[in-house]
Amino acid sequence: MKYTLGFRVWHWLSALVILGLLGTVFLRKTFLSWRDNAQIMMSKFSEMGVVITKEQAKVAAQAIRDGMWEWHIILGYALVFLVLYRICLFLADKSTKEAFSSLTLHKKGVKSLYYIFYATLVFMSVSGLVIEFYEFLGLAKKTAHDITEAHEAVFNFIMIFVPLHIAGVIIAENKDEKGLVSTMINGKS
Ligand code: HEM
Ligand code: HEM
Repeated sequence: MKYTLGFRVWHWLSALVILGLLGTVFLRKTFLSWRDNAQIMMSKFSEMGVVITKEQAKVAAQAIRDGMWEWHIILGYALVFLVLYRICLFLADKSTKEAFSSLTLHKKGVKSLYYIFYATLVFMSVSGLVIEFYEFLGLAKKTAHDITEAHEAVFNFIMIFVPLHIAGVIIAENKDEKGLVSTMINGKS
């Protein structure tokens, strides 16, 4: 058994949750952007002869976005749970992995990227929780805003990692690691 059931379940749940989180960010920045939608509402309402102020349009557009954004927080909690789950796996999982020193240079690079990725997941979880609970933690709004900026900056790494990882796995599967994806499904090498 290369990957235990626990490890595989962790991998696929993480993939779903992280794609979901990226999906909420995508929606927030595109179809549910309050700036764009406030603009659309103002122009459509004015065509109907109803004049609304910029402030009113902003409040309505943000209200439409908020229902979707709740999923960022729900999936965020799921990610926090998955990070804790991964820490348990680090300590107790029985998956068989080659020693780092015996890997090829390329594989050392791939492995290191995974470790950097894990560090970013820890950062996203902690910073996300801090932003969500900044009032409870007694932090100033300005501090929460600065942490949100760091949270958003590190998001870029995750956005690059995901397609790079999927492309990397597909390329490896087609070159010299046939059955690599099956291994992450059935656990056998
Ligand atoms: C958001 C999506 C995804 C995330 C966040 C993710 C994350 C990860 C991480 C962190 C690892 C390293 C596990 C470790 O050794 O500690 C990994 C390995 C792996 N993932 Fe994903 N994954 C995603 C999607 C996918 C998809 C779509 C596939 C299949 C097409 C896939 C196939 C694999 C395979 C085969 C491995 C083992 C590769 C190796 O030994 O280097 N992953 N994934
Ligand atoms: C893969 C992990 C995550 C990614 C890629 C991600 C991405 C982002 C991005 C890009 C933003 C800024 C959105 C904008 O202002 O346009 C954001 C905001 C935020 N995220 Fe995350 N996030 C992740 C995990 C989490 C977690 C674990 C939580 C906590 C439960 C969380 C809670 C928040 C909160 C509260 C905001 C501020 C929203 C606001 O200003 O209204 N995030 N996230």
